[in-house]
Formats: sequence, structure tokens, C-alpha cells
Amino acid sequence: MTTGAGGFRMIGSSNRGFARYALEEIQNLFPGTEVRWLEPDEVFLFGAGVRRKEAVRTLREREPMFLRHVQPVERELGIDRTRADLDRIVELARDETRLRPGEKVAVQVRKMGGIPFDYTPYGVKEALDPVFVQRFGAEPVVRGADRIFSLYLTADRLFWGVSSPEENLSDWSGGMVRFRKEEGRVSRAEFKLLEAEERFGLRLDRFDRALDIGAALGGWTSLLLRRGLHVTAVDPSPMHPSLIGDPRITYLSGKADEVSFPKASFDLLVCDVNWSPRQTARLMAGLLPALAGGGEVILTVKLMRGSPFRTVEDVLAEFGEAVVPLHARQLFHNRKELTLHLRKHR
Ligand SMILES: C[S@@+](CC[C@H](N)C(=O)[O-])C[C@H]1O[C@@H](n2cnc3c(N)ncnc32)[C@H](O)[C@@H]1O
Repeated sequence: MTTGAGGFRMIGSSNRGFARYALEEIQNLFPGTEVRWLEPDEVFLFGAGVRRKEAVRTLREREPMFLRHVQPVERELGIDRTRADLDRIVELARDETRLRPGEKVAVQVRKMGGIPFDYTPYGVKEALDPVFVQRFGAEPVVRGADRIFSLYLTADRLFWGVSSPEENLSDWSGGMVRFRKEEGRVSRAEFKLLEAEERFGLRLDRFDRALDIGAALGGWTSLLLRRGLHVTAVDPSPMHPSLIGDPRITYLSGKADEVSFPKASFDLLVCDVNWSPRQTARLMAGLLPALAGGGEVILTVKLMRGSPFRTVEDVLAEFGEAVVPLHARQLFHNRKELTLHLRKHR
């Protein structure tokens, strides 16, 4: 693959099966983008054809919905998958000139699937961390890094790049968000809202009263409670036993089109019904009067057949001028869906 003079190369990652859409978005941002697949419809190497600063700014300002993560490719090295690679990789780290004493450094290593290596990604991190400590006085961390060293290993190449977490769009390796499976978690669905909170920079604790549509088993509701909100939960299915009787929850057994609320009863409206996108949007738009001006909406949108971009347009059209879209992203925890974040006009 060649890229134009000054062209900045990156590795992009999406949820499996959705990278084609990320590429469509990237081609719109950087016409003439050249691509090489590293994992089918999931991980790809691309040349933006523009300089790094411009590529990073464009991706941050107009973040593609289906691009989960990017990492820069600054250097490329031949490898043979034996432990001798580790010495070559350590040499690359020794050449680094940007590290300052006390800086927090994360090493994130991924490799192509289905290919045997004599070492593990963790083995690469173990080889690099002592170099960062001894030579540069840096502090190895897993999260909260000042600089991320991203390595991607294929059958015969290593791609290497150093960046800030913001440049990568996510500070999780490959954008693969791994929340701890704490005991007492009501449902895995909670991870979606947790991830939206992190990715969208949401401060859930700023809100007081939430309406949770399609609330059972109660993963989203329980996170909202932990953030200090009162929650009205609507679902024909029952909530998890641990939530029943909690005085901060008003549970309404029934479908969303069977309930109505006085004007401006809530400042947050969330919905995870896994239903047809059009119907869900219509339902939510119908509930908008119950949301105070300036209130926010978090909504998962199921991606069915057809263009996902069209689906998002159709959903937004149902809301009309009443809301401003803040974010639309496929999160790591979204399967065949994406998450929308909207704000109601004041
Ligand atoms: C994916 S689950 C929601 C998971 C939930 N967010 C959590 O964290 O546990 C979808 C829920 O939507 C509910 N549902 C489906 N259609 C609905 C409707 N018209 N009104 C209210 N709830 C609905 C289902 O009963 C189901 O419990």
C-alpha cells in the first residue's frame, strides 16, 4: 500500500462486520484513502493522504460512527514471530525521544488472529516496560496514560506508533472496553450505558430524574441509581429482584405507549428496547414533552437491514427540530445497534 507524500497512516478498528461502514465514513473525510485489511471487516490499515495533525483533527471533530479506535503507524518492522522479535521491538523503544521522566506510559499490543507466535502480546509489554522505566524514568500504567505505545503484529510485520489517548479516540486497546464484571451486576446491558458515559463524556450525576424505557432487568436503572438519580422504569417484564422495593425507583409494568407523564417530569430519558428503530424513535419523540428543556436522551438504535446511515437519519427525522444530536456511535458493547445521545432544546 502506498500513501501520498506526507500521508499519515493509521490502523482503524470497528466492531466485527461494521468496518465497511467506518471505511465509507473515512473515505468521505479523506477522499482517495488507501486501505489494507488486517482482520476482515474489523481491522484495517489506511493512509489518510494528509498530515497527522490534520488527520487527527478531522477524526476528532467529525468522529465516524463506526470507527471504534485508531492508532498511528509511525514505524514498520519485519518480524518472524520468534522471540528474537522481542529484541528488535526493544530496540525501537530505545530509539524513542519523546518520553519524559514521570510520564505515564501504556503499552497496547494486538496481533492478527489465527497465527502462531512464540510470544504473547503481554510478553511484548513485559519486554518494553523495563525499558521505559530504566531508560526514561516513565511509569507503566494500563489506563490513564499520557502516552500510548500501540503495536499491531501481523504474520510478518510489526506496526508501531505513539500517541495520546485522545488521538486514539479510546484509551482502551483497540477500543475494546473491558469493564470489570462486578458481583451484583444486574445485567450486561449496563455496560452499554457505562461505555456511553465514558465515550461521550456524560456526567450522569448531573441529572436528577430519569425515565428508563425498556428498563428490565434493570442494568441501566441500577447504574442511574448509583449516580444518584431517581428512576421511573417502564417495562412489561419485571425488574431484577434486587431492585424491587427500592424507594428511588418507580416501576410501571407496561409498554411505553401505555404510559404518560406531566410536562417536564424528567431531565434524562433513556431507552434500550431493542425494537424497530422507526417505532422506537416515534415512541421516544412522543415522550419528549415529559423531558425538561435542556434534558438529554440516550437511545440504542437497532441496525436492521439496509444502510445504517439512513437508519440514523430516519430516527433523527422522527425527533425533528426538538433535539440536537450530540453523539452517534457504535460502542464496543453495541452488537447490531448503535447509541444516540441527544439534547432537547430549551
Ligand atoms: C435489551 S432489554 C433492556 C435491558 C436494560 N436496559 C437493562 O439494562 O437491563 C429490552 C427491554 O425492552 C422491553 N420492551 C420491549 N418493548 C417495549 C415497549 N414497547 N415498552 C417498554 N419496554 C419494552 C423488553 O421487555 C426488555 O426488557
